[in-house]
Amino acid sequence: MSEIKPFRLNKKNYTLLLISVLSVFFFFISYSARYCIAEDKSSIKGNLFPIHTQSSQVITEEMIDIIVKACDQSLPKKIENQLFSFKTGGYYVEKGIFVPTRIKDPNVLTAFNKVLKPGIRFLDLGSGDGRVVFLASLFGAASTGIEFDEDIFNSSLKAQDKLSNRFDLSKTELIRGDFFEADFSGYDVIYYFMSGSFEEKRLEEKLAKELKQGAILVGYIEHEAFKELHSAGRIGKRITVYKKR
Ligand SMILES: C[S@@+](CC[C@H](N)C(=O)[O-])C[C@H]1O[C@@H](n2cnc3c(N)ncnc32)[C@H](O)[C@@H]1O
Repeated sequence: MSEIKPFRLNKKNYTLLLISVLSVFFFFISYSARYCIAEDKSSIKGNLFPIHTQSSQVITEEMIDIIVKACDQSLPKKIENQLFSFKTGGYYVEKGIFVPTRIKDPNVLTAFNKVLKPGIRFLDLGSGDGRVVFLASLFGAASTGIEFDEDIFNSSLKAQDKLSNRFDLSKTELIRGDFFEADFSGYDVIYYFMSGSFEEKRLEEKLAKELKQGAILVGYIEHEAFKELHSAGRIGKRITVYKKR
């Protein structure tokens, strides 16, 4: 019968043990990283098109593509180059960071279809190149955007001009200015791309003070970041809806 040798932690065994522990560790890291990225994908999936809105309007994928194309093409090259740079993650301007909403995101489209209809007054806080303002108007809302940066604001006017041949944009309004000077109480639904402003705490306080009862804030990407407002729930994984009580 062969003799069973006691396990000794010599140099060779120690190296083998270390390699095994490290392999298990790296396996878990890579697995959880994959899992997290998968989790970050939109929870609302599939083809939503054509979208039957609360008005009689039907929104097709082609209509959204037309808006995206007109807005992309209206942006100055210097901005476009920065947008796709990993280093910056967006285009830095005086009051915040410009990154356009992915308006084909099913989470955004589902949220808008729930909260927008004719008669609703909609405001995009920091409206960038205007794409969200144009999108909201497709759902029948009277849609306003306020943008501070001059270059970006001008690109939204350019896009509006291009798109007005294709869509009825008579109820859209693009304003150049600081949204801290606006009165939020006249709006039913307000949209904000989280982290778009360098003064988010001040914005949260203004929203908590000024939103009228029953008004809705649609927050894109971060969840429940506005503690002073009451979250009415999430739509998919990217949208938090706040309702003023
Ligand atoms: C993340 S981008 C969002 C653009 C657009 N809402 C969208 O979702 O496609 C944020 C924008 O807010 C603008 N912004 C930040 N603070 C502002 C302020 N106080 N008044 C007006 N615009 C502001 C920035 O210039 C930037 O274009």
